[in-house]
Amino acid sequence: KHGSGALEQERTHAGGTSGEVEKAKTLTDRQGHPISDNQNVRTVGSRGPMTLENYHFLEKITHFDRERPPERVVHARGAGAHGYFESYGKVGEEPVSQYTRAKLFQVKGNRTPVFVRFSTVIHGTGSPETLRDPRGFAVKFYTEEGNWDLVGNNLKIFFIRDPLKFPDMVHAFKPDPVSNVPGSVGMFDFVSKSPEATHMITFLFSPWGIPANYRQMQGSGVNTYKWVNAEGQAVLVKYHWEPIHQGIKNLTQGEANEIQGMNDSHATQDLYEAIKRGDYPEWELCVQIMSDDDHPELDFDPLDPTKLWPEEQFPFLKVGKMVLDRNPENYYNEVEQAAFGTGVLVDGLDFSDDKLLQGRTFSYSDTQRYRVGTNYLQLPINAPKKRVATNQRAGQMQYFVDMAPEQSPHVDYEPSMTDGLVEAEQQAKPHEPEYHAKLQRERIERTNDFKQAGHTFRAFEDWEREDLIRNLVNALILCDESIQQQMVRNFTQADEEYGRRVAEGLAKARNKEAKGSDQRKKAVRDAERMGHEAEP
Ligand code: HEM
Repeated sequence: KHGSGALEQERTHAGGTSGEVEKAKTLTDRQGHPISDNQNVRTVGSRGPMTLENYHFLEKITHFDRERPPERVVHARGAGAHGYFESYGKVGEEPVSQYTRAKLFQVKGNRTPVFVRFSTVIHGTGSPETLRDPRGFAVKFYTEEGNWDLVGNNLKIFFIRDPLKFPDMVHAFKPDPVSNVPGSVGMFDFVSKSPEATHMITFLFSPWGIPANYRQMQGSGVNTYKWVNAEGQAVLVKYHWEPIHQGIKNLTQGEANEIQGMNDSHATQDLYEAIKRGDYPEWELCVQIMSDDDHPELDFDPLDPTKLWPEEQFPFLKVGKMVLDRNPENYYNEVEQAAFGTGVLVDGLDFSDDKLLQGRTFSYSDTQRYRVGTNYLQLPINAPKKRVATNQRAGQMQYFVDMAPEQSPHVDYEPSMTDGLVEAEQQAKPHEPEYHAKLQRERIERTNDFKQAGHTFRAFEDWEREDLIRNLVNALILCDESIQQQMVRNFTQADEEYGRRVAEGLAKARNKEAKGSDQRKKAVRDAERMGHEAEP
């Protein structure tokens, strides 16, 4: 294992005599020099100024000064665990090879090691885990053909469908750039003018917007991907994780507030403790499949991540299960430095033309080169479990050279007539979609922004609808009236009752506020009068 050399050394020595144990525990600096005084810096006299050659001090303090590199710009707060994915060898009742040639799925019982990072989205690493926010559900499969990352959320849809809007969306949802105070005014300002978000907002402000913890929630790839078979034929797929024995549990705002008052890390703690006591969370991986075309018969575009694919038409087909059975040994090394990206696929899995997915695919590795460093893929948590052989060299923090054993260290280029790396042979027929279209800036035709939001509203149970209205009213009452009105118009387009109930709730809340402020004004007048009368 990389990086645990010192630990192994200590363990090797631990069985020896007490003298050897002492030696094995000796404090050193990172140059291997034993440190005999870790309490006093070198000074001119016992009270004098420090000298600049305090190497041990400078090493220690400069490392400390750099202990917090940038956090993730979104999904900063997270928890992770290791485990495995086991294939069922089928998709539903059909052979999986009919749809994808990806090796990890082919053989029943085949196990692939995984690392999963769960997260909240908007706030920083120290924020509470009880906030109303989607939850990230990112899975790294260390397959024998290299890594596959399935970077999803708990909810099955997203706020927007065009990646150009993502930075604005995140700014609108983050704390105020002047006061740094969080709130949902910016969110509703943005969302009121982004009607495609109505469906996601409907989920987010219902009890589904606060999962009880990371174990008892679903996961979804959200975007549309492709599966490609040995003939190079593709289908469109969506991925979903369904909890097995632990079930699904959400919190109302009241329940979340209560937990938050006592514990701001309840979800991290829950995951860590469950795995520690051997209560391993498990999820089944399901896919929904559609033929690879634009499906004009549907009232939505299959590449639109703001839409659900109706389950009655596109059933969930099971392909395998995932078990998380090992906690990280070091949070920073494994959870914080983990880098997932939608571009990380293996043969037989492909992208679709979903624009949001294509925008994401650039963004992840770009931010990771900045956040973790140029050589982030050499870190054990991110490196595949198979040999890599590249001609990429140097860069900050290069840890080793990605060489093949037969490669000459002098030949870091390709092609070469001598001992350089050679291209792999084409294994299977490539999938080669054809394009004939104008290059343009145009939204998709079938936006249908409200219909599914209305359907989701009606599909909720009564108490969920009540909770949704209450949460929306409590958040919207703090917004300008123009934003409230636009949101009500959006909800009304989704479902007449939905819009009406939010409007009524807002009117009631405004009345109460007005009464409250009348009462406050009266109390101030009374006090003034009493004060005046009390004067001689
Ligand atoms: C993290 C960008 C949409 C799920 C991130 C990060 C960026 C990003 C820059 C930080 C990555 C890091 O520092 O390692 C984007 C962009 C999007 C988008 C540009 C849209 C255009 C989505 C969607 C989902 C999602 C639709 C859900 C399917 C996640 C998750 C993480 C993440 C789970 C955390 C990964 C981890 O645990 O390290 N995203 N994102 N994102 N994003 Fe997105």
